[in-house]
Amino acid sequence: MTDTNPRATLAALWSPLLAVTTRDGERTNGQIIVAALSGSILPDVPRVIIELWKSNLTHDMVLASRIFALHVLDGTPGPAVDATLALVRTLGMHSGRDGDKLAGIDWRPGTNGCPILTGALSYLEATICATLDADEATIFLAEVTGGTRLRDGSPLTLPQFNAALPADWRAEYAASRGRQDAAARQARGLAPTA
Ligand SMILES: Cc1cc2nc3c(=O)[nH]c(=O)nc-3n(C[C@H](O)[C@H](O)[C@H](O)COP(=O)(O)O)c2cc1C
Repeated sequence: MTDTNPRATLAALWSPLLAVTTRDGERTNGQIIVAALSGSILPDVPRVIIELWKSNLTHDMVLASRIFALHVLDGTPGPAVDATLALVRTLGMHSGRDGDKLAGIDWRPGTNGCPILTGALSYLEATICATLDADEATIFLAEVTGGTRLRDGSPLTLPQFNAALPADWRAEYAASRGRQDAAARQARGLAPTA
């Protein structure tokens, strides 16, 4: 099969759905990402890389505080994935600029003060050691300072999320994506899509 479109390769690179939380002073917030990977081959001094779009409040807070927690979300079929989808709706389709998104979510402060989402499969805590300005996003390289597994289960993947997203949430998701895409195009000096 001949395919000159790189989309399939890029699609294969998205991480499972992850929640990034942070604390900047007294303020806490969090968002969903699918752009993360391990940042070091050294297990005794681990690093992680995350990519946050600049239009997100979490981006600005992580840039300011230089700390975050990163959670692997539970995609185990049944009640666990239903709870995760509700979390993704709250954290990933709405901005903390419009209110305290963590108010209705179970969390406790981690070692670095960032919220630890107690329903996650696992989490790590991290401190930024380098940033790369990527126009519409910032790429953060961070030292992993802690974290643990909370429960057994299977991580929620992006294809699983796309298939399981309830029909009446799709417009919310599309609106949120639309805002992000418009801001990203503007950051690259590109015309808005029709
Ligand atoms: C499935 C999914 C994947 C997402 N992936 C990313 C991502 O990789 N990076 C990013 O910055 N935002 C990503 N987002 C968007 C943010 O989670 C979303 O814009 C969020 O509302 C930002 O909230 P905030 O303004 O409170 O930080 C994703 C959202 C969803 C639902």
